Amino acid sequence: MGTAVDSVNKEANGSLSDEKKVKVVFVLGGPGSGKGTQCANIVEHFGFTHLSAGDLLRAEIKSGSENGTMIQNMIKEGKIVPSEVTIKLLQRAMQDSGNNKFLIDGFPRNEENRAAFENVTKISPEFVLFFDCPEEEMERRLLNRNQGREDDNIDTIRKRFKVFVESSIPVVEYYESKGKVKKIDAGKPREEVFEVVKSIFSAIDKAD
Ligand code: ADP
Ligand code: C5P
Ligand code: MG
Repeated sequence: MGTAVDSVNKEANGSLSDEKKVKVVFVLGGPGSGKGTQCANIVEHFGFTHLSAGDLLRAEIKSGSENGTMIQNMIKEGKIVPSEVTIKLLQRAMQDSGNNKFLIDGFPRNEENRAAFENVTKISPEFVLFFDCPEEEMERRLLNRNQGREDDNIDTIRKRFKVFVESSIPVVEYYESKGKVKKIDAGKPREEVFEVVKSIFSAIDKAD
């Protein structure tokens, strides 16, 4: 039996010539670098569906799923949830969207996420949008975020920064070695960051 994304792919890449290929852009960057903020802008202007792995995991906790307690404990500690859980949520959301263009935000967070997604879905990203932001600025933003998140406290923030450097930066380096990373200075004001983001997405729109 095929997985959800197998069937998205079959439909998208299959024999029917009017069907379109599935396009994925991974959106990476430290906690508080502005991934969610800029993804909302991209959705508005370029017709992508935004899938935040963190948002999907938080929704899974709220839904009362059997994995909820495990996910909640990992998020509180800033740890990365096993990829099979996260990938299933991403596959389901991709299938439910009816779209073929996705911004996958906050994923892959480590080598295990990256390798498993590639193996399971056979999808490689078109490119990786990497929001590069100084840690002091990210810390300031997270402490002011006010979304009632259990992980936006200074203890968990420090743990998340450590995990980012140790586990997520190597994923960015992997894609850099493949020439797939578009790095953005995310320490600037929102509007200035979006000007740069917009130029990247306008260029790929034209190339299509
Ligand atoms: P991420 O999804 O990368 O963790 P968010 O998009 O949630 O980051 O942004 C974190 C916080 O910083 C939010 O409160 C957001 O409104 C704010 N923010 C986002 N981009 C900027 C920016 N360029 N300058 C200042 N604050 C920002
Ligand atoms: O991206 P976001 O800041 O919303 O992620 C919050 C938390 O969700 C992470 O610190 C981590 O505990 C969990 N997460 C994960 N695997 C991902 C994305 C997020 O375990 N791929
Ligand atoms: Mg976010």
